[in-house]
Amino acid sequence: MPADSIRTDAAPGEIRLADYAPPAFLIDTVDLHFNLDEMATTVVARLMLRRNPAAPADAPLHLDGESLTLVRLTLNGSVLQPGDYHETSGGLAIPDMPAAGLLEIETRLSPKANTELSGLYVSGGNYFTQCEAQGFRRITYFPDRPDVMSRYTTTIVSTCPVMLSNGNPGPVTDLPDGRRSVTWTDPHPKPCYLFALVAGDLVSVTDSFVTRSGRQVALGIYVRRGDEDRCAHAMRSLKTSMTWDEEVFGLEYDLDVFNIAAVSDFNMGAMENKGLNVFNTKYVLARPETATDTDYQGIETVIAHEYFHNWTGNRVTCRDWFQLSLKEGLTVYRDQEFSADQGSRAVKRISDVRALRAAQFREDSGPLAHPVQPASYLAIDNFYTATIYNKGAEVIRMMATIIGRQAFRRGMDLYFARHDNNAVTIDDFARAMQDASGVDLEDFKLWYHQAGTPDVSVEDSYDPATKRYSLTIRQATRPTPGQPDKYPLVIPVAMGLLDGNGQEIATRLDGEPDTTPGTRVLLATRAENRFEFIDVASPPVPSLLRGFSAPVKLSGLTPDRLRFLAAHDTDPFVRWESGQQFAAAALLDMVATIQDGGEPTVDPALIEAMASTLEQEPAFAAEALALPGEATLADKMDVVDVDAIHTARDLVRQAIGRTLGDRLRALYDGFTDSGGYSIAGPAIGRRSLRNACLAYLVAAGDTAAVTLAKAQFDAGRNMTDVLAALGILSGVDCPERSEALATFYQAWRDDPLVLDKWFAIQALSPLPQTVQAVEWLKSHPDFDLRNPNRIRALVSSFAGNQVRFHDASGAGYRLYADTIIQLDPTNGQVAARMVSPLGQWRRFDAGRQRLMKAQLQRILDLPDLSRNTFEMASKSIA
Ligand code: TRP
Ligand code: ZN
Repeated sequence: MPADSIRTDAAPGEIRLADYAPPAFLIDTVDLHFNLDEMATTVVARLMLRRNPAAPADAPLHLDGESLTLVRLTLNGSVLQPGDYHETSGGLAIPDMPAAGLLEIETRLSPKANTELSGLYVSGGNYFTQCEAQGFRRITYFPDRPDVMSRYTTTIVSTCPVMLSNGNPGPVTDLPDGRRSVTWTDPHPKPCYLFALVAGDLVSVTDSFVTRSGRQVALGIYVRRGDEDRCAHAMRSLKTSMTWDEEVFGLEYDLDVFNIAAVSDFNMGAMENKGLNVFNTKYVLARPETATDTDYQGIETVIAHEYFHNWTGNRVTCRDWFQLSLKEGLTVYRDQEFSADQGSRAVKRISDVRALRAAQFREDSGPLAHPVQPASYLAIDNFYTATIYNKGAEVIRMMATIIGRQAFRRGMDLYFARHDNNAVTIDDFARAMQDASGVDLEDFKLWYHQAGTPDVSVEDSYDPATKRYSLTIRQATRPTPGQPDKYPLVIPVAMGLLDGNGQEIATRLDGEPDTTPGTRVLLATRAENRFEFIDVASPPVPSLLRGFSAPVKLSGLTPDRLRFLAAHDTDPFVRWESGQQFAAAALLDMVATIQDGGEPTVDPALIEAMASTLEQEPAFAAEALALPGEATLADKMDVVDVDAIHTARDLVRQAIGRTLGDRLRALYDGFTDSGGYSIAGPAIGRRSLRNACLAYLVAAGDTAAVTLAKAQFDAGRNMTDVLAALGILSGVDCPERSEALATFYQAWRDDPLVLDKWFAIQALSPLPQTVQAVEWLKSHPDFDLRNPNRIRALVSSFAGNQVRFHDASGAGYRLYADTIIQLDPTNGQVAARMVSPLGQWRRFDAGRQRLMKAQLQRILDLPDLSRNTFEMASKSIA
């Protein structure tokens, strides 16, 4: 081992940002030749290499490779002998490389035997690749790192009717042996993680798009035969995304074709390969009978996300994987803004914040907390996290808030002008924003390096004599693993002031010229900041963090103020948020009463607050009517009491259903959709409010409501209403429940995406027998450990069922760990991503702590545990 790779302060196998060194060689062109065969595919790669002037002149060439058979290696036409190169733990080293040369590598691999779904694999008889983050090394020997950018040509030879790769296609030629050949040319330099190949018996849905500057783009969505009638929404979303990126960011598409291929076996949601996005079928296929409104919205968002990567990720890419949020945070921000522009901005923001809190805040307060730019990792696949994606997007959003929208757009322009076709860093991005805006972002950048969610509290006072109002904002961030000391962050607090009638009043700070009423942004930069407002006529109520202007936990508002804001604020986000905080406080009071052995009562003010939301616009009302979830309430407790939370929440749901029954029923009946199904925002809003009403009616324990839910299920209008009814029924122990589940299974047993819903809904049932049901479903003939969607539908959904997953017997933990243990040998990436719920053990009582840790230990005791799962389990148990 060379001396410089021995480090005493790094864990074994740990990769550190501080160790970054430029690649020894650059590769200008890559010419790939695939001869496809399920058992033995051969790949010939011709690489034009040259020494990187930015690297030491004697650095050896290192090529990554994994699960490959090396057939032949030639350099400038002569075959290399075993002495000319040596195999290393993760690939090949060629010590005496000339300054430039053509390396030709022939490898053999078995796509059929590839269960990891990384590299080249077979799914449903068709070939697909997945190269991010490090799958290209499973296809050929290569410097598998994003700062090596090359121009690719790809020739595919096979019997497949469809053969796709990156870039623009050449003609298909018939070979004498009955096979066919096609060559794709990608003129844009790219890192190897963006390489893709798809081949098989697929059918396409086509369309076209003309870019702003007149380029004709042929659009294609490739799916399995029979799925053609489920592609319209994806195609529409693609075209809308293309237009939006031109209008909002001035960014045009840059090839003659843009293809999407859908695959049912996929580790994640989708992948932005240049010119050939590969999608989990879940994010492509939709018809009203098979997909819910949430599915439709997911498709629109993910299609946009992957398309937007063409500029933020592909044209400008990451120097190394520590910069992952450079492309992911920015692209999530872009897809969030896109979706906000397609429907209700407020409702979109509410759902994004819900997701942020459920995934990222929880991650940030647990053993896996890490900064948006981590300093080290063991397995990069484990770092596709809510922090990198969602908190990363929040950091971008805060930058836009601080420098302003127009400066943000100028910053984007500058970023592309400076870095097009380059592999760059998060610092490069921040520098472009700083230079374009003239705002110093140096202190702000701490958001990238400091993990943990800041706790922000406020205190205020009003002096009637001087008409001064003073607002003190305090911040503190708790320690996270490896970061005991935390520093104040630059927190943009978008805010306004309301008078006693709920009217917006001017917010004029001492020393400022006159201001007009409306939202302004305060910057909290220290552990404590005090803001003095002048000319305030009467005691105001502060409306803070409008639009959730920073990813922090805010406290310090009394229940009375929360109710007032819920009723009056002009900012819909704060209205929703205040209602939720008010409800959470009431629910937690009940939890405390239950824990003290008392009889909890439902605060009439809570019912009243819920009642007043019914008049609001339906999509918003549905959000406001939903009580904080069990996990959200758990996040607010020092020691989670899953049963008391469940009981309290059930009592409130029952009380709402009983007290407001007539109004809920009237609303339900009033919304009956006439005409066909529409996925326009208002129609979605009506369906969600109507289904929220139905859920409360059933929660009231009314048997007529169960009949109503069953009737809605039987009517089969669309999957949104059918699944809502089924979900409601699955929470009630009644004959209608088993009948509906059986009917659903019979109707959809041959449709994998719909059958996933059948598995998920049973895993999410609050009924006490759910643990046994999940155990039984794991041995159901339709359960398949090779299919990540199915595992997520059943087992990951179950982990989100707080009251049942955390069953005091530990049976839930056991079956969950069993699944990870069964899955790890074939798909370590997905197994590892399942570990985190067990890592929440610190937040539970001693008994559950012991049970959860025992399962983590069982996982760690496995002799051949994958590196991915090892990283997650060892960090989770510590
Ligand atoms: N880059 C992809 C996205 O965010 C996600 C991704 C990362 C991925 N790694 C993957 C997808 C592995 C599939 C498999 O859009
Ligand atoms: Zn992405």
